[in-house]
Amino acid sequence: MHELAETAKALVAEGKGILAADESTGTIKKRFDSIDVESTEDTRRAYRELLFETAGVEEYISGVILFDETIRQSASDGTPFPKLLESKGVIPGIKVDKGAKPLALSDDETITEGLDGLRERFAEYYELGARFAKWRATYSIAPDKPSEYCAWTNGHALARYAALSQEAGLVPIVEPEVLQDGTHTLEQSAKATGRVLQALYVELHDQRISLPGTLLKPNMVLSGYDASQRAGIDEVAEATLEVLYRHVPAAVPGIVFLSGGQTDEDATAHLNAMNARGPHPWQLSFSYGRALQAPALKAWLGKPENVEAAQRAYYRRAKFNGAARSGLYAPEMETAATA
Ligand code: 13P
Repeated sequence: MHELAETAKALVAEGKGILAADESTGTIKKRFDSIDVESTEDTRRAYRELLFETAGVEEYISGVILFDETIRQSASDGTPFPKLLESKGVIPGIKVDKGAKPLALSDDETITEGLDGLRERFAEYYELGARFAKWRATYSIAPDKPSEYCAWTNGHALARYAALSQEAGLVPIVEPEVLQDGTHTLEQSAKATGRVLQALYVELHDQRISLPGTLLKPNMVLSGYDASQRAGIDEVAEATLEVLYRHVPAAVPGIVFLSGGQTDEDATAHLNAMNARGPHPWQLSFSYGRALQAPALKAWLGKPENVEAAQRAYYRRAKFNGAARSGLYAPEMETAATA
């Protein structure tokens, strides 16, 4: 358990956070469609290589979450990706869930699958170099959602995954994502997020999880993306902190937010505003997918001659989010000529 706690602490080291590069084959296809690039095993490999080879980004990136295909791929010079990351002091991680599927007998809610055979998969991923893992559950907001049924079944599955992960020597990142689509208010988001976290920590406790060897990856508390009146940066920071203070034990070493559908700049500004209100009982960091990668994807367009521009774009977002780890980010940095 000591090693798990050390890994968890390293993942939320000062000034650093996690790159989520674990898009499933279906999700990365959507991202590539948006830049008109065909998704093949080799274009996916080339794109991930671009990210992992970005010079100096390890100053801000402590770990990278990989997808099953990616953990088995190599850089152009033949170095397996997990080895390449390790050589830069970056910890390789692995997404192990098999996606959110319809929850039987529910009204359009989901349950995340992937527990069958997970012990054996963990043993293989450990061999391949993974030292942390991720499992994502999703919940929607509506007057009757998330239901108690959805909160508890997903909490139970997250805890079962976390137990197998700790048994295998990998730090489980538990990711209960309350989706922020729709027209809900900030208060509705706070209530839904708090409900889901409360059930999750009961299950983690009952299933004997050692909290110092875990990280939490939650959504931020936002008003719905389609709400007519949307809460500003300070309101979001305060509402999110209030929910976390109520529901996340201080034994958890770090909270690494997902970006959801936020703009890159909002994701950075929200994290910054929360850290500016610190210190907190846990490290507050990032585990962003889209908010770290969006400008890099746009700059790349699948062309080798754009690799450097794409790396610069990724480096900039990593650096700004690194600054947001200690409340030192300012929006003016976005318009400065160089990062
Ligand atoms: P986003 O930051 O794009 O939401 O992705 C994070 C993630 O890993 C979702 O599971």
